[in-house]
Amino acid sequence: MTPQFQLAPSILSADFSQLGAQVAEAMAAGADYIHVDVMDGHFVPNITIGPLVVKSLQLLSQETGVPLDVHLMIENPELYLEDFAKAGANILSVHVEATVHLHRVIQVIRDLGMKAGVAINPATPLVMLEEVLPLVDQIIIMSVNPGFGGQSYIPESSGRISRLKQMIEAGGGTAVIEVDGGVKTHNAAAIAAAGADILVAGSAVFGGDQSITENMMDFRKVVSGK
Ligand code: DX5
Ligand code: ZN
Repeated sequence: MTPQFQLAPSILSADFSQLGAQVAEAMAAGADYIHVDVMDGHFVPNITIGPLVVKSLQLLSQETGVPLDVHLMIENPELYLEDFAKAGANILSVHVEATVHLHRVIQVIRDLGMKAGVAINPATPLVMLEEVLPLVDQIIIMSVNPGFGGQSYIPESSGRISRLKQMIEAGGGTAVIEVDGGVKTHNAAAIAAAGADILVAGSAVFGGDQSITENMMDFRKVVSGK
C-alpha cells in the first residue's frame, strides 16, 4: 500500500516578490499546511523572516482554512511566542535545543491558543523529547541541518522517524511527525513509510522549472501511487 502523508510547502524557497500569489497557488493545489521558516542568524547561520510576514499570510490562511505551520529556528523563542500568535500562527514549533525551559514554552504556546510543536536537530538524541512528547501536537524531525533550503536528505533520518513513531505508539501521546529537509518526490514515499505524517517541501514545491501546481501534483501522484 502506498503510504499516505500530508504536504506542508515551505515558503523559504518561494519568490518573495510574489509571496501571496505563490502561497495561494500552493493552497489551491492542495497544500495541507503552509510551513514558515523563521531564522535569527544565531540559532542557525541564516536570517529569514518574522511575524510581519506571517501576518501577511493570515488572511489567505483564514479564507482557505489552510493552517500556518511556523517553525522557529531562533534562540530564546519564549520572547516571541505572543508576537507569532497575534500574527496568525496556528502551529508554533520551537527547537528542543533552543530553550532551557521547553516545558514552559509548550504551556505558553497552548495558552496562546496555538498547537505546540517541538523540532529536533539531526544530532540531538530523541530521548530529549521523552518528557514532553505527551504534551505536544507535533514533532519536527529535521532531516537536514537547519538553516537553508535545497540541502540533501540525511539518510539516517529515516531510522529516527521510525524510532520516534515507536516512542509515540508506546504511550508517548498523540503527536504527529513532520519531517523537514531534503524531501523530494523520489524519497517522499519512503519517508512516509518510515512513519512521517507530514512532509515539508520547500525547493521541491517552489523551486525548479515546473510550476508550483505541477510540483504539487507530482507529490500527489506519490500519494495516490499513480
Ligand atoms: C531548513 C528549513 C526547511 C526548508 C526545507 O532549515 O527548516 O523547512 O525550507 O527546504 P527543502 O525542502 O528545500 O530542503
Ligand atoms: Zn522548516
